[in-house]
Amino acid sequence: MKKMLFTIALTLSLPLYAGENPIQDSYRAAAKQENPGFKDFSAARGQAFYNAKSGEMACATCHSDSPKLHGKHAKTGKDILPMAPSANPQRFADAADAAKVEKWFKRNCADVLKRACTAQEKGDFMAYLLSVK
Ligand code: HEC
Repeated sequence: MKKMLFTIALTLSLPLYAGENPIQDSYRAAAKQENPGFKDFSAARGQAFYNAKSGEMACATCHSDSPKLHGKHAKTGKDILPMAPSANPQRFADAADAAKVEKWFKRNCADVLKRACTAQEKGDFMAYLLSVK
């Protein structure tokens, strides 16, 4: 009986527990696999990650100090549209964009950190962008 109640509670709470964004949710699933102790993503950690310099570069170097502003590619000088969905509704709007998002995480994490980002880092980064009003 206890187990059944638990199952019902879990099923009911799932839609509330899951985030609003399907791309971020896929990183949530990956983060749980990476780390059984995973709790949740954090916008504050994502903000620190966005601004953290690794050598000469941070995510903010190309994406600008604010995810609400246009960025500028550090090497090519090309304009980059704002990263926050509040300023650029195209960002992370469509689950079908998951592969594109992952491609850029791969490239940019390798550029900045010289390694892949963890699912925790990707989800934190997105939590920050999604939290910027
Ligand atoms: C050397 C410049 C540069 C740096 C540094 C950089 N990015 Fe980017 N990023 C780009 C460009 C260019 C794009 C693709 C253009 C676009 O989506 O507007 C992009 C796109 C992205 C996207 C895809 C967004 C989408 O809508 O699909 C993500 C996610 C991303 N970057 C994460 C990061 C993270 C995390 C860091 C720091 C670890 C970072 N970027 C650092 C240049 C950069």
